[in-house]
Amino acid sequence: MKPIKDLLTIGALSDADILSILDNAIAMKEIFTKSVKKVPVLKGKSVLTLFYEPSTRTRSSFEVAADRLSADITTFSVSTSSVVKGESVQDTIDTLMSMKMDYIIVRHKNSGIPGIIAKHSKAAVINAGDGSHAHPSQAFLDAFTIREKFGEVAGKRIIIIGDILHSRVARSTSLILKRLGAEVAYMGPGPLVPPTAHTGITRFTNWEQAFAWQPDVLYMLRVQNERMDAPFFPAGDYHKAFGVTTERLERIAGENLVIMHPGPVNRGVELCDEAMDYSNSLINTQVENGIAARMSILYHLSPQTKNHD
Ligand code: CP
Repeated sequence: MKPIKDLLTIGALSDADILSILDNAIAMKEIFTKSVKKVPVLKGKSVLTLFYEPSTRTRSSFEVAADRLSADITTFSVSTSSVVKGESVQDTIDTLMSMKMDYIIVRHKNSGIPGIIAKHSKAAVINAGDGSHAHPSQAFLDAFTIREKFGEVAGKRIIIIGDILHSRVARSTSLILKRLGAEVAYMGPGPLVPPTAHTGITRFTNWEQAFAWQPDVLYMLRVQNERMDAPFFPAGDYHKAFGVTTERLERIAGENLVIMHPGPVNRGVELCDEAMDYSNSLINTQVENGIAARMSILYHLSPQTKNHD
């Protein structure tokens, strides 16, 4: 397998890379949940997390993953940095490059920023979410979670429900699931579901159609109000039309149908409170598996930093 330096999108990976990262995540989960808490795989390597947008799961999960692999971690706090004095992304990156990091994990509101950093750096760059474009580590943890639950991804039916338009998760997760042989459908308010005519993705407009399709996974998404200049649908209608309500939860009770969500959840909007505690909710498992998937990603990449100059 050809070594790869960066993880920017799922589309840039070969099938062999995808399968290798998923297979190794099984061993990584074994390491951090059971026997040894730490292995010396990245001993002496430096990892920088650079988040220009807020994050709870992705940043802490990458930091725990790097720690479990014995790397040295530096957290760059944008809100207390010279970025607030007006320093540009380019100048910030140039400054941080001089610190000779081996891995840079970056999240930014603009699509393409991780790719620009990767082009100018010998460090392995991981896209931790760029605008509405891509979130490949989320895709890996989602695929890993579905594989773990059902034994395989091929043939499974996953319906992604909500604000698809602004969702980098929908883009990356649907891509990896389709590469692994799953069937994927989208559902949400019309203006928030992009046309799917040539994507091989089915499109539904209501729950009756969705249930008739007999999905294995309801993958719920948050409405990303922060990426909208004006509301895309009337406030108050969303939960009734597209959320997992208590009635819909009762309807699926006892079925082998799981609920997933990348987080953060807006309770009472995409999910009723009860759905969070639903026995077939994999939301907490996704978080746990995020560490294993990210350990495997860090292990898989090859920074070109041996000679940093
Ligand atoms: N799923 C996800 O990206 O969550 P955070 O925004 O908390 O990192």
